Amino acid sequence: MSTKSNTTEIENMTIPEKWGVTSHVMELETSIIREILKLSSQPGIISFAGGLPAPELFPVEDLKEAANRAIDKYKDKALQYSISMGVLEFREEIAKYACRRTKGITAANVLITSGSQQGLDLIGRAFIDPGDYVICEAPTYVGALQAFNFFQARYATVPMDENGMIVDEVEDAIKKYHPKFIYVVPNFQNPSGITMSLKRRLQLIEIANRYDIPIVDDNPYGDLRFSGEPVDSLCSLGGDTIISLSTFSKIVAPGFRIAWMIATPEMMPVFEKVKQCGDLHTSTYGQYVLLEYMRMNKIDAHLEKIKATYGARRDLMIKAIQEYFPAEVQYTEPEGGLFLWVTLPNGMSGKGLLPKAIEAKVAYVYGSPFFPNGGGNETLRLNYSNANEEQIVEGIKRLGKIIKENM
Ligand SMILES: Cc1ncc(COP(=O)(O)O)c(C=O)c1O
Repeated sequence: MSTKSNTTEIENMTIPEKWGVTSHVMELETSIIREILKLSSQPGIISFAGGLPAPELFPVEDLKEAANRAIDKYKDKALQYSISMGVLEFREEIAKYACRRTKGITAANVLITSGSQQGLDLIGRAFIDPGDYVICEAPTYVGALQAFNFFQARYATVPMDENGMIVDEVEDAIKKYHPKFIYVVPNFQNPSGITMSLKRRLQLIEIANRYDIPIVDDNPYGDLRFSGEPVDSLCSLGGDTIISLSTFSKIVAPGFRIAWMIATPEMMPVFEKVKQCGDLHTSTYGQYVLLEYMRMNKIDAHLEKIKATYGARRDLMIKAIQEYFPAEVQYTEPEGGLFLWVTLPNGMSGKGLLPKAIEAKVAYVYGSPFFPNGGGNETLRLNYSNANEEQIVEGIKRLGKIIKENM
């Protein structure tokens, strides 16, 4: 089957009307990113499409050791059902880790989730009635849209500039749409790579406090800064206004599906209840393995290693963009995280270009799905963590050729 017909197939894909699947589920869209990932896993394709960490950096030997320790030390406890909030010792260890950035966090503020994606789902379950509004950045993380779409959320989108969400526009959106919460990815945002400035963070917290609206601080990349100056986290600045999500996916390995939410102890019974409905609790065994891994005190050295590699790959991708893309192409220069964001010249469509890119055996995610209310046609997201150095240069060279041919 040609790659061209594959792309068309994806666009036309529908769920079969069968066995009384709810209208609600029928209306959900399949994640375009998952579909592009399927395409980009074809042999020979250089993929900048996913958000995958570099697999060669997974701390395999240390995790093997941690897994052995977990079973040796906790025996049947590591394999038994456990409580919905998460294993207490693990929550205490995470609270210690979180205290590096946010003083005063204790286990009572920590809920273990099955990935931050579950954190987003729990927030949706807790807050969104059909038709409720959520304020978010445009562009925003497409997985959050998927999670909130399940509850039939609507979106009030706020544009971004190089300092993150343009917070001046938030107050009007609050007055007009009465949102349930404000969702932001303030550090090295997926998809744009942009970091929200301290001034904007303080301004956002002030508005949220004034209108008594929670801010969801989705922060998978905060520990992955490889250049520039650190900015205080929303969680540390905003206190009780903030529900913060962090994950082991990008700092250790996503296969664990283990992450954590930080919120006030008062909110915890709500999240505990909605989590119980879904999965009872996150993998006990996985929690004990990561607890032992954290106690081995290797995480900082591991973070340094990842940051050095991702920083070098970002530098290389930017150098290749400067060399092979036409000068009219704009791009962000992230100071951390996994992604950079490209704006094509003359309204060129990121979606329109993708079949040609796939033919040339290079993949990316076009920008429009990151804009829930439309827009972003001329944008695309590039991931630099998962391809090696040679692939980065070759892939950008191929993309540059296609962009030039379509100008
Ligand atoms: C902004 C953002 N939030 C949440 C997630 C989901 O992370 P997890 O693997 O912990 O479910 C991702 C994953 O890419 C992400 O980029």
